[in-house]
Amino acid sequence: MGNNSFFSSPLFCFLYYFLLVPNHKVYSTNTFSNNLINQTCKECADEYTVGYAYCSSSLGAVPVSHMTNLQGLALISMELALENATYTSSSIKNLLADGSFDSFSLDCLQDCLELYSDAVLTLIDGVAAFLKGRYDFAEVMVGAVMDASTKCEEGFMVKGGEVSPLTRENYDLFALCDIALCIINILGLSVPHYSYALF
Ligand SMILES: *[C@@H]1O[C@H](CO)[C@@H](O)[C@H](O)[C@H]1NC(C)=O
Ligand SMILES: *[C@@H]1O[C@H](CO)[C@@H](O)[C@H](O)[C@H]1NC(C)=O
Repeated sequence: MGNNSFFSSPLFCFLYYFLLVPNHKVYSTNTFSNNLINQTCKECADEYTVGYAYCSSSLGAVPVSHMTNLQGLALISMELALENATYTSSSIKNLLADGSFDSFSLDCLQDCLELYSDAVLTLIDGVAAFLKGRYDFAEVMVGAVMDASTKCEEGFMVKGGEVSPLTRENYDLFALCDIALCIINILGLSVPHYSYALF
């Protein structure tokens, strides 16, 4: 995460207000402690694809995570995904300009750029839906972004022997969205969660 990351941006400062609003209905004990991250990540690791260590280190790396509630953790995971997707989108532009890829890979990268540009917008809509309490919309959007990461990765697999230069990035986006989806689900959604085979 860079120094001029999303977490020091004006949008995040605005969101910070929401992150610190306690919700005593959810996990009423130890709300403002590591325990919430641990408890949440344990639940997500049990029921979703993401691993406990990945979940707790991703959320734990954001200082405000230690002072927030479950709604806050949902927002933080979406913001992490948004920051990741934004960064990857510009990495793909650099790769496209790099000149070292064959035409097949360039096509794949071009597709991924489109998927990632859309993912950024979708995540922004997802955050907005979440803030309005439309958890169902937020879930659909986060799920669509997971699909995008999978599609990007699969593009390179079509031709045997091609190595995706974006495996790590696709995995990060997938896993961060998985965390977000899990948390939004815990917050009271009945939409069944997605299961993917790729990662
Ligand atoms: C949360 O997990 C971390 C690392 O896994 C551990 O050091 C810490 O003691 C745990 N905290 C609680 C409250 O369980
Ligand atoms: C993407 O997310 C992963 C997992 O939280 C993190 O390690 C990585 O630094 C993030 N990358 C960017 C560019 O934000």
